[in-house]
Amino acid sequence: MAGIDDIRSQFNNELKHASDLDKLQLLETSYLGRNGKINALLAEMKSKTPEERKSYGQEINELKQSLTLQITQLKTLLSTRKDQGGDVDVTLPGTVYPKGSIHLVSIAIEEISRIYEKIGFIRTSYPEVEYEFFSFESLNMPKSHAARDDFETSFIDAPVHSKWGKMLLTPHTSSGQVREMWRVGKPPIRMINIAKTYRPNWDATHTPMFFQFEGLCVDEGINITHLKGTLDHFVKEYFGSDIEGRLRPHHFQFTEPSFEVDVTCTVCKGTTKVEGAKCKVCKSGWLELGGTGMVHPNVLKAGKIDPKKYSGWAFGFGVERVIMMKYGIDDIRNYYAGDIRFLEQF
Ligand code: PHE
Repeated sequence: MAGIDDIRSQFNNELKHASDLDKLQLLETSYLGRNGKINALLAEMKSKTPEERKSYGQEINELKQSLTLQITQLKTLLSTRKDQGGDVDVTLPGTVYPKGSIHLVSIAIEEISRIYEKIGFIRTSYPEVEYEFFSFESLNMPKSHAARDDFETSFIDAPVHSKWGKMLLTPHTSSGQVREMWRVGKPPIRMINIAKTYRPNWDATHTPMFFQFEGLCVDEGINITHLKGTLDHFVKEYFGSDIEGRLRPHHFQFTEPSFEVDVTCTVCKGTTKVEGAKCKVCKSGWLELGGTGMVHPNVLKAGKIDPKKYSGWAFGFGVERVIMMKYGIDDIRNYYAGDIRFLEQF
C-alpha cells in the first residue's frame, strides 16, 4: 500500500495531464471519490497503533484539503478558457446588445441652445432649489402677492434665509433673471437659461417636473421689435419656415407690457382642418407657446440695473411643450414613463 507522500507525488504528476474538464473529473473521482485513494489511505487507520492514529489522520486531512483546492482551481481555469475561446463556433452571429438613445428632452435642449447660441445668447442654468427672493420678490411679486398663487410652489423644509426667505423648488426659470443680472453686472445681457421647474400637476399636458427655457435680453434701446424678431427666429428655426408666431396681450408681474405667444398649429398649419375634418389639436389654428414681455423696471432695479438707461425683454417657454407641438405628441407623460419603444423613435 502506497504511503501519503507517494499519493501526493502521483497526484501532482497526473494533475499535469488533466488538460480538459473530463480528464480532471476522472482524476477527482480516482482520488477523492468513494473508492478513491484518499479513502483507501483512511482505511489503513485500523493497522495503526492508537498513538500513530492522530498524526496519521491529520496528515491525510491535509492531503485531502490540498488536492481539493488544486482541483477546484484548475476547474475554474479550464471552464473560463472554454467560455473564452477553445470551443467557439466563429460562424455563429455575435450577440447584439441593445443600444440606448438620447432622450427627446435632451435633444430639444441641445437644439434650443444651438438656435440661441447662433444669435449670441449664453446658456446658463441656475439652482433648482432656490430662495423665495429669486422666484418672487425680485420679480416684482412682494410677500403675499396674489400672483404667487399662479405658481403653486413646493417649499423645502430648510432654514429660512434672513434676506432671501424660504427655500423652494423653482416654479419657473424666471428665477434666473436677477441672478444673471448680478452675474453680468453691466448690460448687454443675452441669457438662455434652461432648467428643471416644478408645479404639482399631472395630466396629459403637465408633469410635476418639467423643463423651461428662459430668454433674457437687456441693453440700451431694447424694445418690443427685438422681442418679436428673436421670437420669430426661434419659431422658424425650431418648427420650420411655414410656422408663424404672434403676441397676445396678457399679464405677468415681472413684465410690462406682457404677452402670451402663440404659434401656427403645427398639425393643421393654421387651417383648422385636417383632411376635411376639424383639427383635434387646436381650435383657432394657433397653439399657445408661453409667456413673454418687456422686463418690468422693478426687476431691473432688483438686478442693480438702471431702468432709465437700460431696457429688456424676457420670455419663458416649456421644453416638453415645444416638443409636443413639433411632433404632435398628445401625452407628455410618455416622456418620463421610461418605455423604450416610445423613446427610441427620437
Ligand atoms: N415665468 C413665466 C411662467 O412660467 C413665463 C414668463 C417668463 C413670462 C418671462 C414673462 C417673461 O409662466
